[in-house]
Amino acid sequence: MEFDLKFDYVKEDKRFNPDQYREIVKKYDKMLVDGTGLGHEFLGWMHYASSISQDFIDAINKKAKYFRDNFDTFVICGIGGSYLGSRAVIEAINGIYSQDKMKIIYLGQTLDSNYTTQVIDYLKTRNFCVCVISKSGTTTETSIAFRILKEMLENKLGKEKAKDAIVAVTDKEKGALRTLANREGYTTFELPGNIGGRYSVISAVGLFPIAVAGINIQEFINGFIEGEKMFGSDDIDKNPAYQYACQKNTLYKLGYKVEFAVTYEPRLAMLNEWAKQLFDESNGKEDKGLLIMSSVFTTDLHSIGQFIQEGSKILFETVLTFKNPNKDIEIPFDKEDLDGLNYIAGKKLSFVCEKAHQGTTIAHAFNGNVPNISLQIDKLTPETLGAYMYFSMKACAMGGYLLGINPFNQPGVEVYKRNMFHLLGKKGY
Ligand code: PA5
Repeated sequence: MEFDLKFDYVKEDKRFNPDQYREIVKKYDKMLVDGTGLGHEFLGWMHYASSISQDFIDAINKKAKYFRDNFDTFVICGIGGSYLGSRAVIEAINGIYSQDKMKIIYLGQTLDSNYTTQVIDYLKTRNFCVCVISKSGTTTETSIAFRILKEMLENKLGKEKAKDAIVAVTDKEKGALRTLANREGYTTFELPGNIGGRYSVISAVGLFPIAVAGINIQEFINGFIEGEKMFGSDDIDKNPAYQYACQKNTLYKLGYKVEFAVTYEPRLAMLNEWAKQLFDESNGKEDKGLLIMSSVFTTDLHSIGQFIQEGSKILFETVLTFKNPNKDIEIPFDKEDLDGLNYIAGKKLSFVCEKAHQGTTIAHAFNGNVPNISLQIDKLTPETLGAYMYFSMKACAMGGYLLGINPFNQPGVEVYKRNMFHLLGKKGY
């Protein structure tokens, strides 16, 4: 796998100095490996992929096949770390307008009544099954959505048959969803207690939905295992994940408080949403942290491109590219050439996109003084995606330690929940 992280478009004076980070990176790596740093109780993701058994993969694939053979629509019911990872992978691999026989629908990630009602009305016309995912088992958005879905399935199929159309992914023992799933006799998969939501895509949280979407989970797991090796060194010169973390840390200290995760592919928009959650929820603490935003170019060059080029110098870009497109299309020749496009007739669209990318990088990095980190991977496959996700998780963990915070908790998220529960009149709030 080609995995090419470059800092060519970060000007010399803003580039990280490996010598300044060498010792500290070794120290923090040891804390991650030994489990002695902040949040050490949530390090299960680090070697989870290489510990997955064939029996576990078979069990996931078996139930996924049952869903694919017996239903035409699959509802993924979860929020945050319990849905973003699988959605990121499914949309990246299958595309946004997938022609796969299984239609994928998302619910439980919003409290919006308009969205929820529209999904429910749509599901009335479909033969659907559900995977409900919640580590805590008590998340309001997910619980409300699942209560509605469960009732719909039971009314349609009867209680016994409805069971076969439901899978729950939750904690082994704790939480309301575990109690409910045990009581109802659903097929369940466990979310290991030592893996937090945003690091959980490699567990059943990600693997089961990804398998139902018809994607080869063995390849995805292989990518994670490859990631464990590629990004396993404590030597900054040999570990791109740590180089990335240190470059970000350097820019942060120079006053760049926002990172734009950029892609030129709309199918990767959800991958960026996943990265946003991973980095922002992990590192935005104690009045510190780099804010990750995301952008799909060239689309956004026609909206926020102006700000990037000439606005406040608060941001830098990290551009993720998969070099070889899975699909391509040629620009047709037109006799009349009224649109003036014949100068590129016969060229592939990917060629035009590449030129737009090069032109943008130069414009932003040199004319705009916006540092630009580039990550190029040869091709988008379940395997390269798995390696990329592991790379991000490792960079995120190191980035958190470099900031002196715990990258594995999210105390701030509870504040709005307490207010909401109080306003809703929940007991104890
Ligand atoms: O990363 C996290 O921990 C969060 O985003 C959670 O995944 C999210 O809040 C959903 O929580 P739960 O899985 O408990 O329903």
